[in-house]
Formats: sequence, structure tokens, C-alpha cells
Amino acid sequence: MAARITGVGKYLPQRVLSNADLERMVDTSDQWIVDRTGIRERRIADDGESTSSLGAEAGRMALETAGLDANDIDLVICATLSPDGMFPASASLIQDALGAKRAAAFDINAACTGYVAALATGTQFINAGVYKRVLVVGAEVTSRIIDWTDRGTCVLFGDGAGAVVLEQAERGGLQSIVMKSDGAGAKLLYARGPASARSLAETEGYCIVMDGREVFRFAVRAMEESSREAISQAGLKIEDVAYVVPHQANQRIMSAVAKNLGLPIERMVSNVEKYGNTSSASIPIALCEAWEDGRLQDGDNLVVVAFGGGLAWGAGVIEWTGLGQR
Ligand code: COA
Repeated sequence: MAARITGVGKYLPQRVLSNADLERMVDTSDQWIVDRTGIRERRIADDGESTSSLGAEAGRMALETAGLDANDIDLVICATLSPDGMFPASASLIQDALGAKRAAAFDINAACTGYVAALATGTQFINAGVYKRVLVVGAEVTSRIIDWTDRGTCVLFGDGAGAVVLEQAERGGLQSIVMKSDGAGAKLLYARGPASARSLAETEGYCIVMDGREVFRFAVRAMEESSREAISQAGLKIEDVAYVVPHQANQRIMSAVAKNLGLPIERMVSNVEKYGNTSSASIPIALCEAWEDGRLQDGDNLVVVAFGGGLAWGAGVIEWTGLGQR
């Protein structure tokens, strides 16, 4: 049994925050940001928006492209590191917003690797025969957990959501999965949250803290190694890969990984220029855009690969089979 992708969706908030806007907020420059990261702008959610509202929009598009009704969905999974609240799960709020009344719902937090973990989880439920149709959302309002005075982090992140529908099928979907964790690296990239506070007064200032240089080094190694492992586990070689759809954190990281893998750079899907790092949402947004611009063909082998806080990282090979019901 396979869990093929039959629908893709994305949603980006309207508000654009450009590098020029950031020049007015912190001591930085458009040139520094573009040279070091490749990012030119990112989207920021309005006050009325939330992780679940962004996620619901992306989910709606994924259902449409799959040709399904919300009631067809058995399970909603939301990967996020910026949930609407400590609980309930943002997935429950997405389930309600979509009217997916039959569905179970829960969140997954593996930081920026969350989408790989969520895809793997949804696939397991289908492969085990427990569910037939799973909506896997990645949604983030990272802008709410950014220290907007810290130039080392605030230029990197953005808000957005992406989603896919997984359906039981004969072929397609995840062919291999590699997931890793090294909790000893937790201090390199983290955001504390309210449950770590001993008093309400302590709950202020919970934002992303990062050792950029160390995370950069780790990212290049982790993405290359896990991609190689996932490709070999699927019985493939790098030449068999049509596209790598990586977590969008930094163009320099993606370029270094492509070079180390021996992958032509045009086969590394990148939209980091437009959206920055949208954490768990970045892979499904990039996948959706690769489908929208007609790049993906039936039978293509795609690699999804991510890294982030945990430290956690992972990769999987997806056999693309086109969208919609068969
Ligand atoms: N604008 C201008 N200067 C900046 C800056 C900014 N936004 N941010 C940092 N700098 C400065 C630093 O203070 C430092 O100055 P110094 O030499 O006087 O101390 C200098 O630029 C170089 O800093 P460094 O951290 O070595 O730069 P870098 O080339 O490693 O690039 C990152 C910094 C953050 C872009 C890069 O390390 C990175 O992308 N790391 C991975 C982060 C990531 O992906 N996190 C999310 C994981 S999911």
C-alpha cells in the first residue's frame, strides 16, 4: 500500500516585509542579507491571522487540487513550532475551520524538520490501513516568536503555510524516510515557551535564539547525509532524482548541499528569496510552487530534506504521481 500525494496547497499572508524595510528596523543592509542568505523579502501575518488560519487556507487549496471534500479527510496533522496556543492543537482548529468533521487532529513539533516528520506520520497511518486520506499541513507565524531587535535572526524568518493530501494508492508517495535527532545540540537553536516559566512575569521574551554559524555548518552536513541515506534506502542514485525540495533556510546552504551531492543547482527547488525561512511550512510551499509552475512530472523522484532545532534533521524520497483522483 502507498500514500500518494493527491493535492497540494499553500497560503502566504499579503503583507510583504522587504530587506529595505528591515534596514529601517535594525543595523543591516539589503546587500548583506542577499549575499549571506539569498532572501529579498518575507511575508508577515496580520494581527487577525494565526498559524491555524494560514494552515486552513493552505489545507483548503490542497483539498481543491485533490478534488476532495473536507468530510473525506480522516486525519489532519499540523507541523508547527509556532502553534496558536500551547493547546489545543492547531490541527484541531484547522479541522474545525475546514469542516473536516470526521477527522482526528494533532500537531507535530520537530522544529523546521516538522514537515518531514508529519509526512512520515501521515504515511504510516495510511500504510497501516488505519486511514485512507490524511491532510498534512505545515503552518507558521514565526514572526510572533522573533526578537525584532536581533539582526542575526529577524532577517531570516517569515510566515506562511503549505499542505498536501495523502491518499491510499497502489503506488507513489514516500518511498523512504530518514529521521535523526541530536538533542545535545538543543542550545544552538531554540525558543523557550510559557511552560518553562515559573511565573507569569517570566513569560516575556520567548523568541528564537540561534548560533547561526554552528547551525549553518550542521545544516550543510545533515542535509547532505540524510539525502544520501534516503536516496540509497529508496534504491536510487542521485542521477535518478528529478528535484530536491529542501527546507528553505538559506540559499547558501541549499547551494552547498547541491554542490556536495553533485546535483545541478536547477534541480534544487528554491523560493527562499520570496519568503525567507517559513520553518515547517517551507517544504510544502516549495512543493506546491514546483507543481504550479509545471515542473513535476508523473514518475519523478523528489527528495524532501530538512534540518532545524532539536537538533533534528531528516529526508525522504517521494514518487510523484500527479494530483487528483485516479
Ligand atoms: N546584517 C548585517 N550584519 C550582520 C547581520 C545582519 N542581519 N547578522 C549578523 N551580522 C554580522 C555579525 O554580527 C558578524 O559581525 P562581526 O564579524 O563584526 O562579528 C558578521 O555579520 C558575520 O556574522 P556570521 O554569523 O559569521 O555570518 P554568517 O556568514 O554565518 O551568516 C547567518 C549569518 C545567520 C546568515 C548564517 O550563519 C546562517 O544562515 N546560519 C544558519 C541559520 C539558519 O538557517 N537557521 C534556521 C535553521 S532552521
